[in-house]
Amino acid sequence: MRPPLRHAPARRTFQRMSHPATPLEGLHLRRATSEDVAWLAEFGARTFRAAFAHLTPEDEVAGYCAAAYGVAQQAEELQRAHSIALIAELDAARVGFAWVLREDPLRTPPCVTDPDAVHLSRIYVDPAVQNHGVGSRLIEGALAEARGLGGETLWLAVWEKNPRAIAFYQRHHFSEIGRAGFPTDPDPACDLIMARWLGPCC
Ligand SMILES: CC(C)(COP(=O)(O)OP(=O)(O)OC[C@H]1O[C@@H](n2cnc3c(N)ncnc32)[C@H](O)[C@@H]1OP(=O)(O)O)[C@@H](O)C(=O)NCCC(=O)NCCS
Repeated sequence: MRPPLRHAPARRTFQRMSHPATPLEGLHLRRATSEDVAWLAEFGARTFRAAFAHLTPEDEVAGYCAAAYGVAQQAEELQRAHSIALIAELDAARVGFAWVLREDPLRTPPCVTDPDAVHLSRIYVDPAVQNHGVGSRLIEGALAEARGLGGETLWLAVWEKNPRAIAFYQRHHFSEIGRAGFPTDPDPACDLIMARWLGPCC
């Protein structure tokens, strides 16, 4: 959900599209299968680049994408227990995904105190259809899947210099509960840890 290293201040690359009068028709969610692994790898790397490549040297972007979005890595993550990738399809074209999983406790920030908390590890929408409600549908789906995994809390990490994503999460009732670093980043508190309760919301 974030680049490995940051050497320049954040800035937006995409102009926001105007809001549609009605939510997208033809949009639905489904769980990813092994047949989606190659797409998850390609789309994940492509949308990661679209969001963050202008902030990070190319060799580091390439290394991160190879490690995080390799086909073998996606296949392994999809096969893990308590790990669900949700794909958003618009008229049968895949336009986004969100990934929820019960994380290894050793990889869970200390500020996440619910032992059954579920991690929203990634959410990406094709830049061509951002701002049209796809991300919101994916959040709704992620919340439902997280409840199914038995958690009472859904948490995520987001780079502090990604204001659009932070505002998006706040709109979906996530609140900052702490800070965390990233192994390759010199700033020990560069990520916001955000969480929301999985019970009925306001
Ligand atoms: C963050 C991200 C997943 C949001 O996806 P999205 O499809 O643009 O999200 P939505 O369209 O549901 O919501 C975005 C905005 O469109 C608005 N919107 C427009 N039409 C809408 C509709 N029909 N229904 C719901 N919301 C709509 C929402 O109000 C929202 O406003 P906000 O940005 O002020 O919160 C997407 O921008 C993305 O992939 N970003 C790059 C990668 C990234 O940063 N990922 C998160 C890393 S932690």
